[in-house]
This record gives sequence, structure tokens and C-alpha cells, in this order.
Amino acid sequence: LTRCDGTTVWVDLNATAITWRGSAAFLCVTQDITGRKKAEEERDALARQLHHAQKMEAIGTLAGGIAHDFNNILTAIMGNLEIGRMELQPGHPALEILDETLKAAHRAKSLVRQILVFARRREENRSSIRLWGVAREALDLLRASFPASIEIRSRPPLSDPLVLADAAQIHQIIVNLGANAAHAMEGRQGCLEVMESEVEVDVESARAVAGLRPGRYAKLVMSDNGCGMDAATVDRIFEPFFTTKPPGKGTGLGLAVVHGIIENHGGAISVSSRPGLGSVFCVYLPVTEKPAEEAAPTQDGIAPGRGEEVLFVDDEKSLVNSTGTLLRRAGYSVTAFWDPTEALACFRADPSRFNIVVTDLTMPKMTGLALAEEIKKARPDIRIVLCTGFGGNLDEEKAREIGVHAILDKPYSVAGLTQAMRRPVPGS
Ligand SMILES: Nc1ncnc2c1ncn2[C@@H]1O[C@H](COP(=O)(O)OP(=O)(O)OP(=O)(O)O)[C@@H](O)[C@H]1O
Ligand SMILES: [Mg+2]
Repeated sequence: LTRCDGTTVWVDLNATAITWRGSAAFLCVTQDITGRKKAEEERDALARQLHHAQKMEAIGTLAGGIAHDFNNILTAIMGNLEIGRMELQPGHPALEILDETLKAAHRAKSLVRQILVFARRREENRSSIRLWGVAREALDLLRASFPASIEIRSRPPLSDPLVLADAAQIHQIIVNLGANAAHAMEGRQGCLEVMESEVEVDVESARAVAGLRPGRYAKLVMSDNGCGMDAATVDRIFEPFFTTKPPGKGTGLGLAVVHGIIENHGGAISVSSRPGLGSVFCVYLPVTEKPAEEAAPTQDGIAPGRGEEVLFVDDEKSLVNSTGTLLRRAGYSVTAFWDPTEALACFRADPSRFNIVVTDLTMPKMTGLALAEEIKKARPDIRIVLCTGFGGNLDEEKAREIGVHAILDKPYSVAGLTQAMRRPVPGS
């Protein structure tokens, strides 16, 4: 029954007496069971959620088991392919076939990785990271793989809070969402817009997003102007193996993985989309106050990074390339310059972007010490490692005064460099 104020009252007909007056029947005894009906609806929703969770769990267990064995098989395949390549003379026609096979094996490897994340069997490596640092790297990767008709628009956030997360998994969220957007914008002039902000979610706004609890979050919004989705598709997109792509084009695991990672991190994801009007995905990750924990050094003494932003400056171009690559492999995000004035301009443009500066001492245009001094003016708390070659006459006392926190002799190893980069700042 609809009340005068427009709200609905559920009437239990069994508990109702019916009076006849003339040919019309009147309900004269009613029992307001609105509360009971609401409880039933909530119970049904919970049952559906449980069923979904159980289904995900079962698929996860199955997929995880297969993926694990499959990984061992793949390792053997890839190892033997490598050996096979070495056995062949350059120019041998079979080389091309082996290369193609190796490429396919690599694709299989990345698929297994996705499945393992989904099955939550992959080892996690969480630390406090800045979301935008990871996002920028992932967007660079996407930019390189997108066709020219698709543009990525992003703007550094006003505040980039710390989140306790596995950088590789966060990277994967952005890549998976980006890949979907690119697919949805295929064949048209597309634009993927990516933004981050820090938000305070209250009880009211938490209700609007499934799984979101009140609290402070880093919110990443990725919106595209692609084909969009109808309501029936939106309902199913996070289900594992749900895809609208033709066979061989998509596994339907992309968003299941994204959902699994976000849920695992205590966050939530929302989507709004309409056919022909594009889609907006919002990722919420809880903000942490915890400072980064130090990772244990690897066997070769390298102190692994967790996506920290490094500004690397050295006028020796070959060194910029090789050290940049080695640091990236060690888990750091590196922006490198061989011209200290360009490095300074980049730093000044966004002083909060970097965590560490590594600079050579003797360089044309500007010495490392002068560069360190200018950088410290813009960001007094930044860590600076100063590298000195043979014969570099460094006034160590001046360097300490400026706030250089480690001095490293050249040539250095990546282990030595990363350890210097992570050395605690005196007095902190
Ligand atoms: N940005 C988007 N715009 C339109 N549809 C989307 C978007 N993102 C996801 N979808 C829909 O959701 C489905 C599921 O996405 P999901 O990433 O899980 O799998 P997939 O992209 O089909 O396959 P895979 O990620 O394994 O390549 C897609 O097939 C597509 O129909
Ligand atoms: Mg996908």
C-alpha cells in the first residue's frame, strides 16, 4: 500500500481481515511489516554476496592451483627455448620460430601472474607508497602502448597521500583499467582522464559504494569516453571470466584481478557508465600514516626500492642510462638528467615529487654541491646523495652543512648506491 506521504507499507495478506461492503473489498486490519520486508531484502542481498564470494573463492582456488603448476611447466619451456636459441647459428630460420614461441611463453607468463594475483597466492610486498608515483609510471607504459588516436590526460594531484600497498599490484590495477578504456575507445578519438585526490568518506557517502567504509582515502579516478556499458554488463564486470570480447581477445580476468587487489588492500571500487557515454572507474585506497619500512637487502646487497622517486644527475650519459636502468630494476622510479640546470628546473617545477636526489659532484654548468644547495632551498627535507669521482675536491664539511646526507665514491656498485640512498638521515 502506498501511504499518503508516498512511502510504501508492505501488507501481509495472511494477517489481514477483509471486509466486504457492497461489491468492494476493504482491507481493514493491517500489519505494518515494512521492517520485516526490509530485513528479508537485506538477507537476500547478503546471501547473493556470500554466493558470489564463494564462487570467487572456488574459482580462485582452482585457478591458483592450475597457475602454480603451469608456472613450473612454463619455466621449463622458456629455459629450453633459451638454450635452443643459443645452440643455433645467427640467421638460422628456426630462430624466428623460437623467438615467436618465446614471446607467446612470455604472454602466458603474464597471464599466469594475473591469475595468481586473482587467486591471492602471489607474495605481496606492501609498503607505504605514494599512489601518484606508481600511477605516473603505469600511465607512461600505457601511453607507449596506446594508438595515436587515444590521449591520456593527467594532472599531478594537490595532495598525494601515503597508501600501504604493493606497488606492483597498484601498477596492475591502473594498467588493467587503462587497457579496458583503450579497448572501449578503439576506432574513435579517445581520451582517458586520470586524476587523484585525497577524500574523507563519511558514513553517508560510504553507502554509495559497495565495500567502502568511512575513512580517509586516496581516490584515483579513471574516466574514458569509450563505448560505455549497459546496466546488465556493469552488474557483471567484476565476475571472473566475464567478458564481452570475442574468444581469444579477452580472458575476463582483468577487472576480477582489479577488484581482488583493491578488496585485499581494504579499499573499494565504483563504476558508473552508460552506453555511448563512456565509463568512470573510481578506486579508493585507505590512506596510511605509517612511514615506509626498510626492506631487507637482497642477496647481492641491493637495498630494494618501493617505487621511490629518484632524481638522478650525472653528466656522463652512459652512466645515466646504465645506473638508471639498474635502479629501476631495483624497484626505484628514476628521472635522469645529464644537465644539472635541467634537473634543477624539473625539481623546482614539482619539489614534492621526489624522495631522493643522487647527483655527481663535478659537472659542467653547475657543481653537484651547488645543485644540492638549490634543491635544499626548495625542499629542506629531501635526501641527497653526492657522488664524487677521483680527484674531486669536495669540501665535506660544506656538503654536510648544506644537508647532503651521504657521500659516495665513484665507481660505485648498485648495492653501494642503494644502501647510501636508504641510509638514515642523521638526527631523524
Ligand atoms: N572502460 C570500459 N568501457 C566499456 N566496457 C568496459 C570497460 N571496462 C570493462 N568493460 C567491460 O567489462 C568486461 C570485463 O572486463 P575485464 O577487464 O574483466 O575483462 P576483458 O577486458 O574482457 O578481458 P581481459 O582483461 O582479460 O583482457 C569487458 O569485456 C567489457 O565488456
Ligand atoms: Mg580487461
